[in-house]
Amino acid sequence: MPPIRVLPSLLSADFARLAEELAACKAAGASILHVDVMDAHFVPNLTIGPFIVEAMRRSTDLHLDVHLMMTDPQKYIDDFRKAGSDAITIHVEAVGQRTLQAAIDQVKASGAKVGLALNPDTDPELWFWAFEKVDLVMFMTVYPGFGGQAFIPQVRPRIRATRAKFPKLDIQVDGGIARETIPQVIADGANRLVCGSAYFKDKDRAGFIRWAEGL
Ligand code: DX5
Ligand code: ZN
Repeated sequence: MPPIRVLPSLLSADFARLAEELAACKAAGASILHVDVMDAHFVPNLTIGPFIVEAMRRSTDLHLDVHLMMTDPQKYIDDFRKAGSDAITIHVEAVGQRTLQAAIDQVKASGAKVGLALNPDTDPELWFWAFEKVDLVMFMTVYPGFGGQAFIPQVRPRIRATRAKFPKLDIQVDGGIARETIPQVIADGANRLVCGSAYFKDKDRAGFIRWAEGL
């Protein structure tokens, strides 16, 4: 299994102090930051666009992992790449079987790493053909749209089935990831842990990352 990494999800950061929050993530030992883009259409919430990613890019050299929760992500892939995204993750449900290959090619051509995200009720086996072509697969362990929701344990067998088939793939989980659920998802085969509210609320963020990455 590839190395375990904790990805602080900036949705839970204090955006009035964004530069300080980014610096604090680096000081705590994070190497990758997770950025949630929501379009008020694919998900009910509305968050950030390329403009904010560009501001983040100016204040950190950490890897920016950008999660596009949007309809027609192809329209914005190039803008998010130009803004400084290192990895761009698109939802398979937003793209569909017939256009997924073209969308993957578009992200690759932009120069970013490419990720595929799956909602909790999406069957990964239907998308295994595409997992071979990407850098990471991300299982949503909540319905996307908001931080601070409860982890959905029904996703666990899907993570296990995917790890069994793809031993070297970066498998990321997003939603309700905390000290209680991290040992479970690692046992299932996830190695990249997106963590919003649990990470930002923790009094010892460096200790949190050290603990999880050492499991
Ligand atoms: C939810 C977002 C997550 C969110 C996770 O739709 O994709 O990245 O920040 O937040 P927590 O860790 O609080 O569940
Ligand atoms: Zn996310």
